[in-house]
Amino acid sequence: MTTYEKLTTELKAYPKRWLVTGCAGFIGSNLIEALLKLDQHVVGLDNYATGYLHNIEEVKSLVSEKQWLRFQMVEGDIVDLDACHSSVAGVDYVLHQAALGSVPRSIADPIASNEANVSGFLNMLVASRDAKVPRFVYASSSAVYGDHEALPKCEEILGNPLSPYAVTKLVNELYTEQFATHYGLECRGLRYFNVFGPRQDPEGAYAAVIPRWIDSMIKGDQVEIYGDGETSRDFCYISNVVQANLLAATQSSPGSNAHDAFNIAVGGQTSLNELYAALRTELGRVSHDLDIADPAYADFRLGDVRHSLANIDRAKQVFGYEPTHSFKDGLVEAMQWYVDKQLRQNKN
Ligand SMILES: NC(=O)c1ccc[n+]([C@@H]2O[C@H](COP(=O)([O-])OP(=O)(O)OC[C@H]3O[C@@H](n4cnc5c(N)ncnc54)[C@H](O)[C@@H]3O)[C@@H](O)[C@H]2O)c1
Repeated sequence: MTTYEKLTTELKAYPKRWLVTGCAGFIGSNLIEALLKLDQHVVGLDNYATGYLHNIEEVKSLVSEKQWLRFQMVEGDIVDLDACHSSVAGVDYVLHQAALGSVPRSIADPIASNEANVSGFLNMLVASRDAKVPRFVYASSSAVYGDHEALPKCEEILGNPLSPYAVTKLVNELYTEQFATHYGLECRGLRYFNVFGPRQDPEGAYAAVIPRWIDSMIKGDQVEIYGDGETSRDFCYISNVVQANLLAATQSSPGSNAHDAFNIAVGGQTSLNELYAALRTELGRVSHDLDIADPAYADFRLGDVRHSLANIDRAKQVFGYEPTHSFKDGLVEAMQWYVDKQLRQNKN
């Protein structure tokens, strides 16, 4: 039995109370789905800045009536300290996901990113400290590695940030050290590497590459690859990220600091050209009648790092993280969801 399998059995027997911020977004809605399916009590906080009510409704359709009754939705902004205080009251664990994602968004509007990602983050730390939350787990990002070229990325070696977004995530990590030192708040940062899966938003200028390309392929639009296509990423399926959050919140380890950050990825490297080919093949397998055009190549994008690949040993050692899905496994699982979603949209 893996550490995660043991944990899920324990949680079912002894349910806890969790706060998931950003619960209407991609990662947050997957967290509340997993927690409710484990019969946990869950408070969700979101202001719908980039999240959707339809994500919450989809979760409702995937859990039992009894499980759904254990969910409490709070519509509120983490920039409002009162909203943070009232949401965090009485919870055992905080899984803080709320933030404005996207490097280009932060370059276009650094003030908005700073407000949600730094001021909002600080409010969540203060509220968690005041409520004496046993552990605060939060979404950091591989963006903190910035311009450092070493591969694979190990937690202790950071470069200079390449975007305001990266700065906000770095500031998060620095703040948790202060809260661990001065107030004894136990914090764990999860440096996600390009997460993908169901409910990731394909729409808008700031959409992530996988949902955006699948959406284009299904609609018959040409996919645009920034640069020569040899830029690479460590694409991580959402189930691995859910597992990492639950383990990071609950597992103790004498060897780790109360403010450590951990790489959460698979430890694999896929270039954009390979990604394009894999999506095309998998989409063709699920939906035979699609005519997918060859991609167009455009300029490199400002603020993008060239290569990204994680060393995930620390998360394995400290809290027993064992990714269950490779990039390809995740793609096979997610593709049907994208195709079904498109069919649902066409019907409406
Ligand atoms: N998806 C990835 O690949 C990835 C990679 C690295 C880090 N992250 C981080 O993971 C977290 C979740 O990302 P996601 O991909 O699910 O994005 P998302 O945009 O789908 O979800 C973020 C959620 O936070 C909410 N939110 C934003 N500002 C808020 C505020 N001020 N108050 C309350 N709620 C607010 C949004 O409405 C949204 O529902 C973010 O912190 C992001 O920076 C994601």
